[in-house]
Order: sequence, then structure tokens, then C-alpha cells
Amino acid sequence: MNDRVSIAIDGPSGAGKSTLARRCAAAFGFLYADTGAIYRTVGLAAIRAGIDRRSGAAVEALLPDLKIEMKYNEEGEQRMLLNGEDVSDMIRMPEVSLAASDVSALPAVRTFLMEMQRSLARNHSVIMDGRDIGTVVLPDADLKVFLTASAEERARRRVSQLLDKGICEDYVKVLAEIRYRDEQDMNRETAPLKQADDAVLLDTTSLSFEESFAALSQLILERFCIRQAEKEIKTGR
Ligand code: DC
Repeated sequence: MNDRVSIAIDGPSGAGKSTLARRCAAAFGFLYADTGAIYRTVGLAAIRAGIDRRSGAAVEALLPDLKIEMKYNEEGEQRMLLNGEDVSDMIRMPEVSLAASDVSALPAVRTFLMEMQRSLARNHSVIMDGRDIGTVVLPDADLKVFLTASAEERARRRVSQLLDKGICEDYVKVLAEIRYRDEQDMNRETAPLKQADDAVLLDTTSLSFEESFAALSQLILERFCIRQAEKEIKTGR
């Protein structure tokens, strides 16, 4: 894969986008960009400022003072900086998830973060995951995948991930949070979560992680092998 290519992976919270996308990026030599982390960073800034996260005016007033940077460390891991401070771990807290969902519904926030996402795709071959990558951020992506799983299965995975970290979380509460975010992300006016017309649907409800990885890798291979073959036919090589 010599030319710069972009792969958009969209889908609801907890569908396994980031784990799968990160693994595929490593396997195929792409940069992995987790765009949810950028919205989470704005969500954290709003929490810290103590403002109403749903108020367009209040959040918009905060934006000029925010310096949000996405950096990659030596291990190739994406880190988020908020005004110079590494907040990559802090933005994973449950209250930040809800704040991210709130601020991400605001058009001013989406516009503010658009260029950062697009410039990554201009400068690297990327696998970018989010909610509107295939529909808004990279409408010309070479491959678009809509990755989903039932809300119940996503909640079950989340509870089990937390258990692995020694955190015991109530399934019903996690399911309710997942449904709340789905509802909010799918029904907002600006860039709602939806499958792009030309996206491939990958439902992982009954797939293990390894099976999901194999399915996504297959899609990537098929798409880029076809592209390579077409190029070779055109150039007669
Ligand atoms: O993927 P995530 O759970 O880390 O995303 C956090 C929130 O950010 C999610 O509720 C919706 C929002 N988001 C978005 O609106 N657009 C994106 N491209 C990525 C995330």
C-alpha cells in the first residue's frame, strides 16, 4: 500500500471500534486516530470550567482558550494534550464520556475539531474511528465500515472489560448509559451517528474479538487488493 489511504470506522459506543481499529492499524501499517478522544478532551475542559455542557454559547466561549493537541508517543500510542497537559487517562472517566457526548452535539465544537481530523488524513494513511468519519470528516475515504453490536452485547463487553481492571460495575447501569449515548449520538442535528450509504456494515454481536479482527482485515485486504489490481490493469503492469 504505497499511496496514502484512509479508512473510516464509525459506529456506536462500545462496539469495539478503537480496539479493532488500533489492531488493524498496527497490522497494516496505518496511523490510528481515535477521534472520540478529541471530543472527550473538550468534554473534560467543559467539566473543569464548570459550564453547562449543553449550552452552545457557554461551550463556544470556552473554545478560543483551548489548545487541543493529538500526539503520538514512541510506542505509536495516541496521547491527548489539553493546554499542554497530558489528559489521555483522565478522559476515559465515565463522566467525561457523557460530557463528550454532550459537547459533540454542538456545531461549533464539531467545526472547531474538523481541521485537526482532516489534516491527519492528508498527511498519513489512517484508520480513523468515530461517529461521522465516513459521512462528514472523510466522505472520500477509501473504505468505510460501520461497526456495530447490540446494546446488550456492548454493555456485557464493557462490564467484562471493567471486571478485568478490578472494577465491578452494574450491568443495568452500563446498559442505560450506552442507550443514553446511542440516543444522543444518533439523534443530534449536526453530524449524527449513521451509516454512510457506501459503508460496509459489520455487526460483531455474535463475533469474538479475533473473528471481528479477521472480518475487518478481510475487508481491508479485499478493498486494497482490488484497488491495486485496478491500478495494475490501467498501467498494463
Ligand atoms: O468514541 P468515544 O466513546 O470515545 O466518543 C465519545 C463521544 O464523542 C461520543 O459519545 C460521541 C462523540 N464523538 C462524535 O460525536 N464524533 C466522533 N467522530 C467521535 C466521537
